[in-house]
Amino acid sequence: MMRTRTAQICIDSEALRHNFQRVKSLAGDSKIIAVIKANAYGHGVQAAADAFSQADAFALATAGEAIALRQSGVTRPLIALQGCFDSEELKTLSELNIQTVVHQPHQIALLEQCPGLKLDVWLKVDTGMHRLGIPLAMVEAAYQKLRACKSVRHLRLMSHLANADEPDHAKNDEQLSALDRLHKMLNLETSMANSAALVALSESRLQWVRPGIMLYGSSPLSAKTAAELDLKAAMNFESKLIAVQQLEQGDEIGYGSTWQCRQAMRTGIVAAGYADGYPRHAPSGTPVWINNSLCPLLGRVSMDSLCVDLRGVAAEVGDRVVLWGKELSVDVVAEHAGTISYELLCHAGSGFVSSTV
Ligand SMILES: Cc1ncc(COP(=O)(O)O)c(C=O)c1O
Repeated sequence: MMRTRTAQICIDSEALRHNFQRVKSLAGDSKIIAVIKANAYGHGVQAAADAFSQADAFALATAGEAIALRQSGVTRPLIALQGCFDSEELKTLSELNIQTVVHQPHQIALLEQCPGLKLDVWLKVDTGMHRLGIPLAMVEAAYQKLRACKSVRHLRLMSHLANADEPDHAKNDEQLSALDRLHKMLNLETSMANSAALVALSESRLQWVRPGIMLYGSSPLSAKTAAELDLKAAMNFESKLIAVQQLEQGDEIGYGSTWQCRQAMRTGIVAAGYADGYPRHAPSGTPVWINNSLCPLLGRVSMDSLCVDLRGVAAEVGDRVVLWGKELSVDVVAEHAGTISYELLCHAGSGFVSSTV
C-alpha cells in the first residue's frame, strides 16, 4: 500500500511483550486485566491483544469496542468498563460472553429486566474519585440486588484511584480503605490498581490489577522515567527532514511569527504536524530527535510540518527524525506540551498506524 504521509507510526510488538512481562513480574499472584481501550491507547487493539495474549482479561471502554474485538476473533475474557446502556447491548454482551461493569442503578435495572441472560458482572464502586461508580452508601443495596439477579453469573468488585500517580497522596489510603472494607464485607474478588498503583502502591494489587499506560512503555509516575521502570516505548513516531534553511537574525518563523531568530541560524523543517497527531500546542523548545541530538521545536506546529533548531547539529534533507519513541520518550514530549502521554499516544495512533513489527 502506498504511504500517503511522510510521518509514520510503527508499533513495536516486542516492546509490548516486554512491558507485559514487567507487569507480570509486579503483579505477583494477582490476575492481569490489560487495558486496551481506545484502540489500545492508539497502538492498535489487535496488535495489543496479540502481544498481551497471556493477560487474564482485556478491558475496553465501551460495549461497542468489546463487541468488535470479540467479533474479530479474540477469545480471552473481555470487560466493557462503561457497561451497557440498553437491553439490546446487554443481550449482545451475554451472547458474546463479554463481562460488563455496573456503575449506575439503571444498569442494575437492565440486568433485572433480562433474567434469561447470563453475564459476569463487575460492581464498580465510587470510593472517592466521583467519576463512575455506585456511591459507598448505596453499595450494599446494589450488591443485594445483583446477587438476586438471575442474569448475573459471577460478581466481582472494582474501583479506581484518583491520585495513584502521586503515591503519597492522602486520598489513596482513603480509597483503598473504603474498598478493603467492602472487599471483606462482600467477599468478592476485587480490582483497583492501574499502572501507577501497580508500580507504587503494592497494597492496591488485590486479586486483579488493571494496568494500561505502562504496557505501552510510558511511565505512570512523574517521579520515575520509563527507562528507570524498565519499560520500552512501543510507539515509534518518525518522519523526515524535508528542508534545511539558513535564516538571518530577526527572521520570524511559522504562523503567527511567534519565534524570532536572535542570530543567524540553521533551521530544519520536519514533515510532521498536527494532522499526523503531533500536538499543535507543543511550545517552542519541545525536543525533536535528529541524528542523536535533541533539536528544539521553533514556532507554531503546522498541519503537516514543524520547524526545528539545527544549530550545532549535522543534519541534511532526508534524515530520519523521531518525534517520540525509543530515542525520545513520549513522556518528555508530553511534559513540554503540558499534557500526558495518554493523550499524545491516543491522538497519534487514532489517525493511523503505518506498521506493526
Ligand atoms: C477504569 C480504568 N481502569 C484502568 C485504567 C488504566 O489506567 P492506566 O492507563 O493509568 O494504567 C483506566 C485508564 O484510564 C481506567 O479508566
